[in-house]
Amino acid sequence: MSYNTSRFVQLKPVPFVASTTDLAIYHKVLRKEVPLLGMDGKNATSINGSRDSVGRISVYSYYAIKKYYEISNHCETMAYWLDEELPAVLQTLSPKEECVRVLAVGPGNEVIDTTILRCVREWVATLKPEMKSRSVYCQFVEPMEDVSQLYERYKALLGKKRAVEINMEWSTLTPDEYKGTYEHGIHCDSKFHVVHLIQSIYYVRDLENTILFHYMHALKPGGLLLMSVNSGDNARARLLEKFSSGRFSRRASDVTEILDKHNIRYTRINIPVTANITEVFDEDSELGKVLLDYLSSAIKFRERAPGHLLDAALFHFKTPESCFQRRGERKTEILVKMGFDLIVIRKSHIPINGE
Ligand SMILES: C[S@@+](CC[C@H](N)C(=O)[O-])C[C@H]1O[C@@H](n2cnc3c(N)ncnc32)[C@H](O)[C@@H]1O
Repeated sequence: MSYNTSRFVQLKPVPFVASTTDLAIYHKVLRKEVPLLGMDGKNATSINGSRDSVGRISVYSYYAIKKYYEISNHCETMAYWLDEELPAVLQTLSPKEECVRVLAVGPGNEVIDTTILRCVREWVATLKPEMKSRSVYCQFVEPMEDVSQLYERYKALLGKKRAVEINMEWSTLTPDEYKGTYEHGIHCDSKFHVVHLIQSIYYVRDLENTILFHYMHALKPGGLLLMSVNSGDNARARLLEKFSSGRFSRRASDVTEILDKHNIRYTRINIPVTANITEVFDEDSELGKVLLDYLSSAIKFRERAPGHLLDAALFHFKTPESCFQRRGERKTEILVKMGFDLIVIRKSHIPINGE
């Protein structure tokens, strides 16, 4: 595979064109040509498993994730944690360079990734004069979003004139392709003080390689690596565990097992989330169908799952273990218990094998 550096952009609007394969998958889904994915374990492909030739997840999967974000407090709770806790974590870094470098993999939804950048900027502004850092550079790796629009949104959210300047560069590569650029010697000298993959490691082909690549090659000694991954004990993870013979979605323990294997020290923080999935129980609700696809990790689940599986999934989400119920204005609302783990890693200053 060849890696085209022209897909890296610097502050330039780049038109977003969904790949033809993406669109083909989406239309097939709409025409119900794609078999029911997952659930019975025979067609062991998850909603995130439908990909185009360069490994981008399908437009529909991306849409379903966004809808889930809209009905949950996922972004707010994560942004709250970052605002409260990240400043103290950043204080432990001691950059020697003029510019603090950040690598943001899968920024997509801007709420979380701008919060990280804002915290980094505020921290740089407090650095003592003997630490020379005065500006921030952020490399974004984002294959799905219209990066020109994202850039505008980031610019608006981060404000204009500030004491600490932020320069942003956008790449429309997938994380796997971006990693490939190092392997092909393109970015092999690019190292970062802060690297984060927030809810984006589900889509990489080789989890172990990806984690080691970011830790060993992309991160500077003494740098900070942040990853967030769904926890294994939320209602969705338990459903997938119960009804599928395969594992459909990566979870935090998959990451920590790899870190343990390589003796990489980390802190793991559980962040509980609730999502209002009341619509899922309304068989005519389009939003409910999309949310059910996300929760079941299967495309067109309501229409195409065998009746007993649909009933079992709906029952699962209504149990006290999975949800809270509250009185809404028109009907009882179902708030499902979700959550993810944030994994925080400080790289040691001592080089390890392979660096
Ligand atoms: C669930 S969103 C997370 C967005 C943001 N970091 C957040 O936490 O709100 C996943 C992000 O990973 C990106 N991504 C990573 N790998 C991808 C792949 N192979 N195909 C498509 N998108 C991918 C998506 O574009 C998206 O921005």
